[in-house]
Amino acid sequence: MQTVNPESIQIVKDTWAELIGHGPEIGERFYNRLFQQYPAYKKLFKNNPHDQHRKLAFAITLVVTKLNKIDQIAEEVRSLAMRHVKYGVQPEYFKPFIKLLVETIAEVRGERWKPEHTQAWREVMEAIGNAIAANIKSVQEKAHKNK
Ligand code: HEM
Repeated sequence: MQTVNPESIQIVKDTWAELIGHGPEIGERFYNRLFQQYPAYKKLFKNNPHDQHRKLAFAITLVVTKLNKIDQIAEEVRSLAMRHVKYGVQPEYFKPFIKLLVETIAEVRGERWKPEHTQAWREVMEAIGNAIAANIKSVQEKAHKNK
């Protein structure tokens, strides 16, 4: 995985700690926006929207709490990638997903959000997103070769 600046990790942890109570609101706004801008993604999400909103907060919390434990993250990244292959997620979906996610978090945080928070969140989420996407790619390539 790409190295991430420890200061960025700290910013993500601190800002998320203050936002955790807003998890469902972030989830709802995020998925509304995601499906509006990328209607094609809608069919991937089979669970009911309420569960998805909770899952998003859970997913972020998981990532944030494990950020300093890179070994655990590598394991988590592999298993997340395997599951996302099954959900039908393509490597190129991560960039827009992360961009919208950070925009949504910034919006919910309002005036207290600073440009350096955006930078830190994008750096951290993209490192993880790129790692998951790379794993998805290699799973797809292996599957292709075995055809
Ligand atoms: C940093 C990036 C991401 C992380 C950490 C993440 C994490 C998670 C987690 C923890 C779950 C809950 C179920 C499970 O653990 O398998 C999940 C489900 C899911 N994710 Fe992601 N995800 C990411 C990016 C994406 C992207 C880019 C897409 C597609 C646009 C996506 C689509 C889905 C779908 C379709 C489900 C299943 C939900 C359902 O069946 O309704 N994820 N994700």
